[in-house]
Amino acid sequence: MRNGRGRKGTWIAGSLLALATLAGAQTAPMTHEEAHRRAEALLKQMTLDEKVGQMNQSAGVTIPGLGSEKPDALITQGKVGSILWLIDVKEINRLQHLAVDKSRLHIPILFAFDVIHGYRTVFPVPLGMASSWDPSVEEQAQHLAGQDARAAGIEWTFTPMVDIARDARWGRMVEGAGEDPYLGSAMARAQVRGFQGTSISTDSILACVKHYAGYGAADGGRDYDSSYVPEELMRNVYLEPFHAAEQAGAATFMSAYMDLNDVPATGNHWLLTDVLRNEWGFKGFVVSDAFAVGSLVTHGYASDPQDAAYKAAMAGLNMDMASLTFTHNLAALVQSGKVSEAQIDAAVLPILEAKYDLGLFDHPYVDESKVDAVLSRPEGLTLERKLAGRSMVLLKNEHQTLPLSSSLKKVAVIGPLADSVKDIEGGWTVEGLFGGPSKSHPVTVLAGLKTRLGAGAEVSFVPGPPLSRLYPSMFDEMSGKKPLPPPTAAETADWVAKAKAAAEQADVVIAVMGEAADMSSEAASRATFDLPGIQQQMLEAAASTGKPVVLVLENGRPLDIRWATEHLPAILEAWYPGTEGGNAVADVLFGDVDPGGKLPVSWPRIAGQEPLYYNHNLTHEPEDRPGFTSRYWDISSKPLYPFGYGLSYTSFKFANLRLSSKSIQKSGKTEVSVDVTNTGRMAGDAVAQIYIHQRYGSASRPVRQLKGFERVTLQPGETRTLTFPLGKDELSFWSPQTKVWAVEPSTFDVWAGEDSTASLHAELTVTE
Ligand code: BGC
Repeated sequence: MRNGRGRKGTWIAGSLLALATLAGAQTAPMTHEEAHRRAEALLKQMTLDEKVGQMNQSAGVTIPGLGSEKPDALITQGKVGSILWLIDVKEINRLQHLAVDKSRLHIPILFAFDVIHGYRTVFPVPLGMASSWDPSVEEQAQHLAGQDARAAGIEWTFTPMVDIARDARWGRMVEGAGEDPYLGSAMARAQVRGFQGTSISTDSILACVKHYAGYGAADGGRDYDSSYVPEELMRNVYLEPFHAAEQAGAATFMSAYMDLNDVPATGNHWLLTDVLRNEWGFKGFVVSDAFAVGSLVTHGYASDPQDAAYKAAMAGLNMDMASLTFTHNLAALVQSGKVSEAQIDAAVLPILEAKYDLGLFDHPYVDESKVDAVLSRPEGLTLERKLAGRSMVLLKNEHQTLPLSSSLKKVAVIGPLADSVKDIEGGWTVEGLFGGPSKSHPVTVLAGLKTRLGAGAEVSFVPGPPLSRLYPSMFDEMSGKKPLPPPTAAETADWVAKAKAAAEQADVVIAVMGEAADMSSEAASRATFDLPGIQQQMLEAAASTGKPVVLVLENGRPLDIRWATEHLPAILEAWYPGTEGGNAVADVLFGDVDPGGKLPVSWPRIAGQEPLYYNHNLTHEPEDRPGFTSRYWDISSKPLYPFGYGLSYTSFKFANLRLSSKSIQKSGKTEVSVDVTNTGRMAGDAVAQIYIHQRYGSASRPVRQLKGFERVTLQPGETRTLTFPLGKDELSFWSPQTKVWAVEPSTFDVWAGEDSTASLHAELTVTE
């Protein structure tokens, strides 16, 4: 469910109880042992119906097209453990009072919402934050978002999304950290730390690691479609960030929608029990994705809703999101002896523990008077602007087009995203979800540029037709609303002529283009990556004047920018940079901030190359040899921009790559060091990246794998020596032949540099 700002929906954000520290409430911290003891005691008093009640997460609102029951009656009967999709604080308090005052055991409700990248202060989309290659960006953003959410009565967020995305057709790429398990794991851990802190308390919210697992491998990049992922790929790639988040203490997981190797993730015992609980030792609880228990029938996996409840519960699922399938069927399954009450107890216990850990029994309500002040804290906006600047990736900069001069007098801004308040924050916004009134007042790029240039400059603006004229949103579709017709030939010619005329009058053109925020994220796959609408025509018209055109991209996936790469002097990838996005873009364009972000995905030339990822295996005949090779006749199989790529306003030299030991035993460890020097005239950020390749072993290994990175700021002329460990954690892999994680004796290539094509090389020998 995601942003439908400006569309149907009736969210009214009120004000509510603040979290303990922000509201000044005093709570003695409860240890987890104490939480466990109390949860066990409470469980002993509960009837079967009340236990099953804790396993139900009810919808707190009626969603256009999806429908749902008002939860009041279920709450008073003790049949609601959690509520989602509700942010109206008065309603949160009203429902909480029903639970605490009117249900037999007074168990508070756990309120959950998708606080994906900020509450009222919206941070860059997760793919953007991952582009920072700086886990502290994620940690700081999610810490602030978590504090805001808790103050507004949300104790559980459905974040982080850690799905590996190797195929940009899949729209949910924007919600995660991209294609790499090592970078993805670092970002996953940082988010868990940001939301939960060092332990769960009145001062944190629960993280939920999703969508477990393999969701990003959807056939054809079509959202929700089946994934076929062999175990070696699951373990070495797709499961890695989940495991990292689990090890970092993530309290909850969400099971994915799709079939994994023909068994739906929500009824998949291997995923939910064998791996998650038995191998990794996970002690928290797992919620299904929305309606996913009910849709086990749709998949053709369960015969009817009771069978669906049975299969999900037996697989190890603790909570049913929104489908009420557990509510209507679990008790009968226990009574008939198919499911034991001990299994139900095991499923309910971690839910109760989490409520005690969070201090919900002592502080169930929201202080409505404090909410607005917390959500509007100015430090949130200051942080957002800083983190947005760190998330941008400079893709091209010829003839020193950037940074722009502060004394520019005439600037033309073109493109439908340049002044689109609705798009700059991306597809998931809390107050904007289902079309609610956002109170964040985002700064668009046009606004940010005008502020930065001041009154002395003339800024003309040609938006072109809005992108909403091309694609209906899902909510519009479900409510039968048709999009406006696309522009006619005459309208198109008029906009193109206006873009050209504006460019002719200007010293520089800033084109802010890409995709509408709705075109990526959930149920938003694409089979082509072209700039939608008439953006390309406007861009070419502006460039035909000979004036320098800077393309600023707002998008949730890589797009087909081959023409722009060939013909424009400068391209800045801003993703959806958030509430202060326009100011942050101006900071980077004018050089107040050096762009230091790097791509967390391989950037394809066209959609036909997908899935495209740097950490593939070596083929029998690689493309760069003559003759019979692995290639397309019509296009290079290489990316347009490689994984890890991004420019800066300064330049860096990587030298002196060395290993503390060139030969180690497989139980041993070595250290890689490299000297990084700022060789330019400005201070700037380098991201040192370490890649390895195992030359032979019990299985073919990827040509390169990221195994270390660090973002550092260097002054002109400054050299820093960076050191990274290489040992069991970096060198081991799960072999399909041995079926274990192990370091194997082999020769390893080691590279260090600025992206996944780095050439500075060393060799490591690993012996028995
Ligand atoms: C999405 C999840 C989300 C859930 C609750 C589902 O449609 O797949 O990512 O957390 O809705 O909003």
